[in-house]
Amino acid sequence: MTDGLPMPVPAEGLPARVRIHEVGARDGLQNEKTVVPTEVKAEFIHRLAGAGLTTIEATSFVHPKWVPQLADAESLFPQLADLADGVDLPVLVPNDRGLARAMELGARRIAVFGSATETFAKANLNRTVDESLAMFEPVVARARAAGVHVRGYLSMCFGDPWEGAVPVAQVVAVARRLRDLGCDELSLGDTIGVATPGHVRALLTGLGEAGVPTDSLGVHFHDTYGQALSNTLAALQHGVTTVDASAGGLGGCPYAKSATGNLATEDLVWMLEGLGIETGVDLGRLTATSVWMAGQLGRPSPSRTVRALSHQEQ
Ligand code: HMG
Ligand code: MG
Repeated sequence: MTDGLPMPVPAEGLPARVRIHEVGARDGLQNEKTVVPTEVKAEFIHRLAGAGLTTIEATSFVHPKWVPQLADAESLFPQLADLADGVDLPVLVPNDRGLARAMELGARRIAVFGSATETFAKANLNRTVDESLAMFEPVVARARAAGVHVRGYLSMCFGDPWEGAVPVAQVVAVARRLRDLGCDELSLGDTIGVATPGHVRALLTGLGEAGVPTDSLGVHFHDTYGQALSNTLAALQHGVTTVDASAGGLGGCPYAKSATGNLATEDLVWMLEGLGIETGVDLGRLTATSVWMAGQLGRPSPSRTVRALSHQEQ
């Protein structure tokens, strides 16, 4: 190991490059008990971009009462205008109202967010699965007609805190419907972090058999049981090249009991660097960003890599 990086030792059957979809500013901060000031969010996102991340989910245009932590989307998004040339800044949009708010500010990438289970659809969107897909339909159509890229999140792909294990066929069915709406990519959410690598392979195989192309998929693992990196490796071995992660391991979902932080971006970058896979991310700058953010939040980062590289000085 030199300069805070592992020695690269490539392994067979893995992609040459991985696109990291950074979700710390959205999935991370939506779950904070206190509302982080808008200037701190803007600085966080600028620092993430400075560390080389090129897809940074910025915020959500949801109902401000449902997610008060992100109620400042209108004042935050314009503060990121200087990044727009080199960095994609997707935002979450559940419905027409959210799309109108995002388009008004010139957002070029949006994400709708569906659920594989009825219980979470109801808890998160106040809709059944059918009703939420009906709500997304005009959103996806309008966005695409305006040349806006659409990601479709699919939550509870492995387990649900109310319904237990979620059958692969059930997830595949909703994934197909999100694709049929016109989503450009799908992100498979392990919202409560219960997946294990065999289950990841089984779902990716099921999706492939149902005609969902692997290159249109991203994976979104929460790290509740410490499985997020193993699950990521299983997905990479299956051909997935887009991985969601959150700087410092921030995260969770306010409407899913027992959801903890996402896979930490630093832990992901450490593994990818070790495998000789390109990410374009400067791990030192990223770690410094998470240490700074931990200072803003008043508690240490749960990321093992952040702790190791910062010698626990947080
Ligand atoms: P609802 O209460 O059913 O809303 O919420 P409604 O459609 O009945 O509208 C009621 C009022 O809200 C209306 O105002 C609307 O205009 C207003 P009124 O006419 O009464 O004055 N309204 C809005 N205002 C601002 N922006 C909007 C908006 N929409 C309606 N976009 C709704 C339905 C979808 C809005 C609500 O359930 C909601 O905002 N949910 C968001 C929940 C959320 O953000 N969860 C976290 C993100 S998902 C996640 O974290 C999982 C993920 O990370 C993947 C994984 O880990 O699995 C992505
Ligand atoms: Mg999430």
